Amino acid sequence: MTAIRSVVLGCGSYLPQKVLTNAELAARVDTSDEWITQRTGIRQRHIAADGEFTSHLGIAAAKAALADAGIDAQSIDLIVLATSTPDNTFPATAVAVQNGLGINHGAAFDLQAVCSGFVFALATADNFLRSGAFKRALVIGAETFSRILDWNDRGTCVLFGDGAGAVVLEAQEQPGNVASDRGVLTTHLRSDGRHQSKLYVDGGPSSTQTVGHLRMEGREVFKHAVGMITDVIVDAFNATGATADAIDWFIPHQANKRIIDASAHKLHIAPQKVVLTVDRHGNTSAASIPLALCVAVRDGRVKKGDLVLFEAMGGGFTWGSALVRW
Ligand code: UT7
Repeated sequence: MTAIRSVVLGCGSYLPQKVLTNAELAARVDTSDEWITQRTGIRQRHIAADGEFTSHLGIAAAKAALADAGIDAQSIDLIVLATSTPDNTFPATAVAVQNGLGINHGAAFDLQAVCSGFVFALATADNFLRSGAFKRALVIGAETFSRILDWNDRGTCVLFGDGAGAVVLEAQEQPGNVASDRGVLTTHLRSDGRHQSKLYVDGGPSSTQTVGHLRMEGREVFKHAVGMITDVIVDAFNATGATADAIDWFIPHQANKRIIDASAHKLHIAPQKVVLTVDRHGNTSAASIPLALCVAVRDGRVKKGDLVLFEAMGGGFTWGSALVRW
């Protein structure tokens, strides 16, 4: 029996011009290039310019994705934008992106699942496309985490960066064989609010009426990360019959190289299949997966027919996986 699948037509990304190196950070807070590199794998991150908002990053990434897909913005009828750093409390940054693309039909909304945002947004768009509600979707992860960092807290300010990535999805009829269909094959989303206080922002419209700063018990997050990530990937394997050997590319959320290495090792995914950009981008939260994906597509690693595995874990806690045939 045939199946409607959300097939990826193209991807695009945008990084702000300004690069902030570990050495520059070491001049501001009590840290060192050696500590940051050894503990996280991060060497540099991009920082948005004054006046450069999350929507601007999202529009640039969306335009690049539309150009890569070779389609007109007017054919998009759904925009799901994952961010924890919206331009304003409301309206959604997604409507600023929609307007920036000259689209005024269909629906556009934000989705907030912190670092898991892209996987949650991909799953949301996939469900809308498979239901027949929409035909073509832009799924965007866009962040300006530099705006919510406490630049005096060495435990967090060295970890994050700004950027945006996007994919264009189209509802297409496929043969209905999970072993060969193109598109999103399965998604798995999880949350557990008992862990809210381990990674959060200490402000908000309803509580303090301030924007607040990111706070994290890094060691606590680290302790849970690998188990949660591998659990939800096993769910994807069980749902599809895929195995670690069948995965062509593992494109994880880029928070910490040690977490990525440990997850890949536990799942028996070969190191050469792991796409790593945390060294150049830092942790860009919801933007990290589409940013890494675009690097691997542009340099020719990800090719049509490849089986690509995404995973993410972040504040909430939230975590999720998605298996996509390119
Ligand atoms: O994307 C959402 C999910 N977020 C994550 O996945 C982040 C998960 N956590 C991590 O990646 C790691 O826990 C960190 C990179 C944040 C920290 O690495 P760690 O190996 O867990 O270090 P730690 O927090 O246990 O700190 C070790 C030491 C401490 O000093 P003492 O108490 O041993 O004297 C810290 O004060 O390192 C110190 N430290 C630093 N030293 C130099 C913490 N931050 C820094 C720093 N530079 N930037």
